[in-house]
Amino acid sequence: MTLLLKRLRYISALLISTTILLFLYFQNSIVVLTYSSYSSVSKQAQHASHICLGDLGNSSSWFSERYKPTVPLLLNSANSELHANIFSWWKELQDVPNVPNYTEVVDQLFSLFPDEDHYSDAGPDRCRTCAVVGNSGNLLRSNYGQQIDSHDFVIRINKGPTEDYEKDVGNKTTHRILYPESAVDLDDNTHLVLLPFKVLDMQWLISVFTTKNIIQTYTEVPSTIKANKDKVMILHPEFIRYVHDNWAEGHGRYPSTGFLTLIFALHICDKVNVFGFGATSDRNWHHYFDETLTLFEYGSHSGDFENITINQLHQENKILMYKGLT
Ligand SMILES: *[C@@H]1O[C@H](CO)[C@@H](O)[C@H](O)[C@H]1NC(C)=O
Ligand SMILES: *[C@@H]1O[C@H](CO)[C@@H](O)[C@H](O)[C@H]1NC(C)=O
Ligand SMILES: *[C@@H]1O[C@H](CO)[C@@H](O)[C@H](O)[C@H]1NC(C)=O
Ligand SMILES: *[C@@H]1O[C@H](CO)[C@@H](O)[C@H](O)[C@H]1NC(C)=O
Repeated sequence: MTLLLKRLRYISALLISTTILLFLYFQNSIVVLTYSSYSSVSKQAQHASHICLGDLGNSSSWFSERYKPTVPLLLNSANSELHANIFSWWKELQDVPNVPNYTEVVDQLFSLFPDEDHYSDAGPDRCRTCAVVGNSGNLLRSNYGQQIDSHDFVIRINKGPTEDYEKDVGNKTTHRILYPESAVDLDDNTHLVLLPFKVLDMQWLISVFTTKNIIQTYTEVPSTIKANKDKVMILHPEFIRYVHDNWAEGHGRYPSTGFLTLIFALHICDKVNVFGFGATSDRNWHHYFDETLTLFEYGSHSGDFENITINQLHQENKILMYKGLT
């Protein structure tokens, strides 16, 4: 290993708590450089014919072995009980000695936030189009803005801003997936979709709209953010486990936020177009909105395996990747 890499790994260990929130896709060490070359994939997205996902009859066995239509996507009081093996896996992700009482926290959650069975409307007649917008620098100068905004749902991830980048990333956000360490203000029409890595994240969500007293997890977090309480949703811990098992096939410690979001879209949408995913040709990730760079295969996630899965979904027309500028 080069000295540089060693140093990066060291810095990464120190910064792990702060960096993890910065990155859409694969997290960790920071290097600053300019966005130079992107891999020489097609400039324009391929205009494959789209079919709605409603008809899974024609799916490959690769797809149908992984896709589980009945997995709970979003938490509500009726589906909140966790199987022991799921709870213990999820609990292992949280680096805290005293895990708060999950049942009690869930009760509090749904005394505050909508307690609904979201998106259980899948069927042959539904054709909901979704744009999943990652934070990759390949969005810069892509001119995708209007196209992204034309989808029924526009799902953004973590801090990815729209202001000042409208031409390339659009200005509509129906859903934003975030966790306390990556939280930003949302506008009134946007669903805050919490990605809970720990029970404390759920407590933080409660605190944001009530006492505002949680200001720290493993790092400082905002005590409150602007968001519409009536549009809050919480990803189900079983869904996180399902993505880890079925789609990442156990690679990495847990799936990246981008990958989770993409699989989430696969379940709630009938046509999934994916923007702003992808690394530079020298296997680094960077954001369209800042200059941090992160090594591709690094940290808790398996970038390579997720990449393989994403490509396969594209091959099978389950998603359409828009590669941006090369
Ligand atoms: C089913 O999928 C195959 C291969 O992807 C494709 O060639 C065929 O046209 C599809 N059939 C229908 C009815 O969509
Ligand atoms: C969590 O709280 C519930 C309700 O207050 C209680 O019945 C349960 O025993 C608690 N669980 C643990 C593990 O302490
Ligand atoms: C988004 O941009 C369109 C024009 O491209 C504009 O008409 C619309 O008002 C903008 N919406 C928001 C919420 O800024
Ligand atoms: C992801 O997979 C695609 C298609 O196989 C490949 O072109 C690209 O280089 C991969 N990305 C990385 C960062 O390895």
